[in-house]
Amino acid sequence: MARKKSPVAAAVVLREAKPLAANGGVLAPNERRLNFGERWAYAPAPEQSDYIEIKPRYQLFIDGKFRAPHSGRHFDSINPATEGKLAEIAEADAHDVDLAVQAARRAHRNVWSKMAGRERGKFLYRIARLVQEKARELAVLESMDGGKTIKESRDIDLPLVAAHFFYYAGWADKLAYAFPGRTPHSLGVAAQIIPWNFPLLMAAWKLAPALAAGNTCVLKPAETTSITALHLAEIFQQAELPDGVVNIITGAGPTGKALVEHDDVNKIAFTGSTSVGKMLTRAVAGTKKSLTLELGGKAANIIFEDAALDQAVEGIVSGIYFNQGHVCCAGSRLLVQEGVFSAVIRKLRDRISSLRVGNPLDKNTDIGAINSRVQLDKICELVESGLQQGAELVQPRLRLPEKGYWYPPSFFTGVTASHRIAQEEIFGPVLSVMTFRTPEEAIERANNTPYGLSAGVWTDKGSKIFKIVSRLRAGVVWANTYNKFDPTSPFGGYRESGFGREGGLHGLRPYLALD
Ligand code: NAI
Ligand code: MG
Repeated sequence: MARKKSPVAAAVVLREAKPLAANGGVLAPNERRLNFGERWAYAPAPEQSDYIEIKPRYQLFIDGKFRAPHSGRHFDSINPATEGKLAEIAEADAHDVDLAVQAARRAHRNVWSKMAGRERGKFLYRIARLVQEKARELAVLESMDGGKTIKESRDIDLPLVAAHFFYYAGWADKLAYAFPGRTPHSLGVAAQIIPWNFPLLMAAWKLAPALAAGNTCVLKPAETTSITALHLAEIFQQAELPDGVVNIITGAGPTGKALVEHDDVNKIAFTGSTSVGKMLTRAVAGTKKSLTLELGGKAANIIFEDAALDQAVEGIVSGIYFNQGHVCCAGSRLLVQEGVFSAVIRKLRDRISSLRVGNPLDKNTDIGAINSRVQLDKICELVESGLQQGAELVQPRLRLPEKGYWYPPSFFTGVTASHRIAQEEIFGPVLSVMTFRTPEEAIERANNTPYGLSAGVWTDKGSKIFKIVSRLRAGVVWANTYNKFDPTSPFGGYRESGFGREGGLHGLRPYLALD
């Protein structure tokens, strides 16, 4: 590994920051933008990808078989780090959706709901083990199709995917114990719509509890990240999961809409934007379909003066720059107690200037590619609004790759509660920093958002943690850590962040009727 620390060598590797405008962004070099940063050069350490078999075309997975879409239409899935086309993906229309729902209904009626829980559990264990066997390949595919770093897809996403199947496999034959005194029944056909930020992990969050509870599924991945779900379909075939138990249909919004509007769907589970979530709420009103929504967030991380600052800054950094900030529970607001403000800002600035942005398949990369041009434009537009509204942007000088969608790790100071960057989900590597004086003020500021998904508290005092977390209106609160996930732990939000819980025992409940 070549580490060049002398100022001369640093100058060689540093290079001028490329204006973000050249990258499709709207950010022009601005007086209020501070540039800094000295970087070490690391030798390239790319994960091998030449053995990965990407099909030129992926079809729909219906009733245990891959089949061409009714319309004959396909769309491209690209690699956001290169803008190169990876594969063509079938576009499902209402006809295909109907075939998938019918297959799921037959499988529910004839096979899956009749099967003993311990038998269903065996299939889930088998799937979990196959995911583990193919974890490396799936991680590379996930990084290629979605832009996330291999470090994350390999060390976080894939182990959690397997863990979710293992965990819910264990519940399949114990449902009666999960809800003592009640008799649980499956609901029927579950329509599941997932986003592009954790493609396989969201598929696992949705499928594993639904299947353990005896439901059959029609899953729709996001249009920019469909490939790994279709490789998961191959795993289902290998596991000899009965035909129709899981069906995977690909396409964009209209495909999702046709799925949720299908008459024969019993349950809808959605993760994505608040705007689509609201549309779904209207679509199911007056029907018997049950609904769970996991929507956006604007989480606050609160640093008190007595916190271990280095540890806190490390947690803040992973909380917002992790997965390019494409995380609904990202700690996108930072509330710092006034006495430690300058120390925190200094540490944050130093830390982000050492983050490496670039090839997602390189094992040293900290920040990969933004998932799509649309998302990059959205980030740039919100950053521009922050500058317009008078906040100060701190952004290291970075050389971004020529092709692909990139955004450097950034943070804003001088943010007020009314700024759009303090209110709206940015879904990118951009943090809004604000200050507070008293714990009361911290709580009030943290809760001052339409969302309520997650929050973080950093302090040395256990009693303070308990006092603060009980008053934060967020579904998940981490203390002295951030973004930690486990299949046994429930996850979900309040208000505009949605309703219903995924994970743990709580995650089974939305897939069961209790007599
Ligand atoms: P989106 O909500 O449009 O997409 C999520 C899923 O819903 C995708 O599979 C999409 O095809 C599907 N979908 C879109 N329109 C639909 C409709 N009318 N009926 C049924 N399904 C539909 O999110 P998008 O446009 O990709 O991202 C926009 C913003 O949403 C992001 O910038 C971010 O702020 C937020 N978001 C939040 C996520 C979360 O984890 N809570 C995940 C993805 C995005
Ligand atoms: Mg893609």
